[in-house]
Amino acid sequence: MLKSLDNKSVSLVFFDPQYEKAGSVMFVDYPLHFQSENQIIVILKEIERILKPSGFCLLWVNKEVLKSDRVQNWLIKTTKLNIVDFLVWLKRKIGMGSYFRSSGEYAWLLQKNPTNSKKFTNRCIPNIWKEDMIGVAKRKHPHQKPYFLIRTLIEATTKEEELVVDPCAGSFVVLDACQQTNRNFLGVDLTINDLQEYNQEKAKEKGLVIDVRENNE
Ligand SMILES: C[S@@+](CC[C@H](N)C(=O)[O-])C[C@H]1O[C@@H](n2cnc3c(N)ncnc32)[C@H](O)[C@@H]1O
Repeated sequence: MLKSLDNKSVSLVFFDPQYEKAGSVMFVDYPLHFQSENQIIVILKEIERILKPSGFCLLWVNKEVLKSDRVQNWLIKTTKLNIVDFLVWLKRKIGMGSYFRSSGEYAWLLQKNPTNSKKFTNRCIPNIWKEDMIGVAKRKHPHQKPYFLIRTLIEATTKEEELVVDPCAGSFVVLDACQQTNRNFLGVDLTINDLQEYNQEKAKEKGLVIDVRENNE
């Protein structure tokens, strides 16, 4: 999908890699594709290529990545991408943890050269963003990110009709936010069919009806 895009054609990318097998941290066997270090670097290089000058990428990282030097090593290979800020999503839901228990997720804000803070047009976004995590029954993906945060970032960094890309789209929450804000969207997820089948099976077991997105349009 990324290879089909022209150089410097995209205003904003959300990149949320699958850093580990879901079952290894959540004790649930979600059918999600785990991404190798090499795959992440290949995607980041494509993001560097397709972003417009001063375009943005929100790169989600988990606690293990944050504790390591992995992001710095990726950015050595993508020299036009610069870390310009850091964000915590405070989910209000306390998860597991070996020492501190997790109640947040983390993201680096990257900007392609030349960095220019004026391209970020909303000065009111806090770097600790409080938004409740969607409940399990309504969630389309176990790692679904917060809709209002995504929508606010889209509005802060792009104009109407510009292109927003999500190469690991999961729940396609970025598509929802683009539709509401009149931005163009391109996204893909390798496991959308498997995950829908899995969610439907689980919902049937529990006697629930779940919202399933038509994915073959
Ligand atoms: C962390 S989740 C993304 C969640 C998403 N940001 C959301 O808010 O719903 C990462 C997703 O990327 C998918 N994935 C892994 N490798 C991929 C690849 N090479 N291309 C597209 N999707 C991939 C995984 O199966 C998983 O669904």
